[in-house]
Amino acid sequence: MSNLLSGARLRERFLALDAFLLETQAFWRPKPFTDLRLPWEKRFPELSLWLRRRSLADADAAHNHPERLAAPDPFPCLAERAAWLGALDKFPEQMAAELPSRFNVDIPGRKWEQIQAFASRLSFQRPTGHWLDWCSGKGHLGRLLAARSGAALTCLEYDGALVEAGQALSDRLGLVATHHRQDVLADDAADRLHAAHTPVALHACGDLHIRLMQLASAAGCDQLAIAPCCYNRIGASDYQPLSAEGKGSSLVLSQDDLRLPLAETVTAGARVRRQRDASMARRLAFDLLQRELRGCDDYLPVPSLPPAWLDKPFVDYCRDLAELKGLPSPTNRDWPRLEDAGWQRLAEVRNLELLRGLFRRPMELWLLLDRALYLQNQGYDVTLGTFCSHRLTPRNALLLAERRLPTEAVDNSVYSF
Ligand SMILES: C[S@@+](CC[C@H](N)C(=O)[O-])C[C@H]1O[C@@H](n2cnc3c(N)ncnc32)[C@H](O)[C@@H]1O
Repeated sequence: MSNLLSGARLRERFLALDAFLLETQAFWRPKPFTDLRLPWEKRFPELSLWLRRRSLADADAAHNHPERLAAPDPFPCLAERAAWLGALDKFPEQMAAELPSRFNVDIPGRKWEQIQAFASRLSFQRPTGHWLDWCSGKGHLGRLLAARSGAALTCLEYDGALVEAGQALSDRLGLVATHHRQDVLADDAADRLHAAHTPVALHACGDLHIRLMQLASAAGCDQLAIAPCCYNRIGASDYQPLSAEGKGSSLVLSQDDLRLPLAETVTAGARVRRQRDASMARRLAFDLLQRELRGCDDYLPVPSLPPAWLDKPFVDYCRDLAELKGLPSPTNRDWPRLEDAGWQRLAEVRNLELLRGLFRRPMELWLLLDRALYLQNQGYDVTLGTFCSHRLTPRNALLLAERRLPTEAVDNSVYSF
């Protein structure tokens, strides 16, 4: 069966994921970074020991595909169910119109590929008269769609420099395009949306794409296409479900839980990864130290620190951070041993995280389906699939929504861009 999800299958999959996530909370909620021991480890000592004995390199090699790990029970069974429930297929590619030459000048390579992939997966039953690029940046996506379809374009973006640069690029191509400086969360954002618009949003964070779904359905837009990202960027402390099904669920997701689907690093380069590892190993070593200094076995949040902190000798790093957190200055001790303990913990944390990693896609799909069901409740036919490979961007899910046509108006035409 295809894993492009639409119609009754949206609700079916949502309910199955809801039950799965509720049942497995003990595995994905506790975070190895903040808890020295995870409650599930007592029940599954073999799995715990197996994961804790592996190296940092082992963990990194398995990071993008934790489901392939031959770990002790209950790992394989959880992996199989997570893969089954988290499966999503790619939308078929539509024929693309020729583009004006040198169109992609000024667009970073990976972004250009994402935009092309997004655009080539759009297909609607009605032609599009006016694109609205939501949180558009410079409006590269909107410009590609407008150039291919000949339709007008409006871009909304709150960074003035991007608005200006985007307008200049559109003007240079002779497009009928207006780039507005607009905070899409402000009250007056509703005035920018009209029924004749087809809104598109590529990687608009949490509240930003939720706002689009609410305003577009209220304005009566016939079609929209959204590739969400950063589910944790929301104003509320816990996730506020949108659909009737989501509201009926007893699953409560904190902002912290909502980071889980994003905990993937497919696009980070080697240098960035090395820096991130060094910073995390130090934080984990400091965590051991602060527990001793405070005489309290709890995690203590530490703010993100400027990269220069990594150049400090380890002992200065610890002393300065203790001072920053208002802790007593640490007395002399075996600093190299503490530093090594940080690296050892990093290896254990990364390997234990592989178990949580199994739930990244199921949780993301639960969130996507909540959005899809919300739009379905608003009278749209909704299809959920992916628009590109996971390697191009892990945020590769696309929601396509088109307002239901009366049966007699369906003529089987397909408009692609
Ligand atoms: C991840 S970028 C995506 C940009 C573009 N869609 C793309 O794919 O290249 C998110 C964009 O949202 C914009 N943004 C963030 N908050 C916003 C707000 N409240 N109103 C309008 N734009 C916002 C940012 O300035 C940024 O350009």
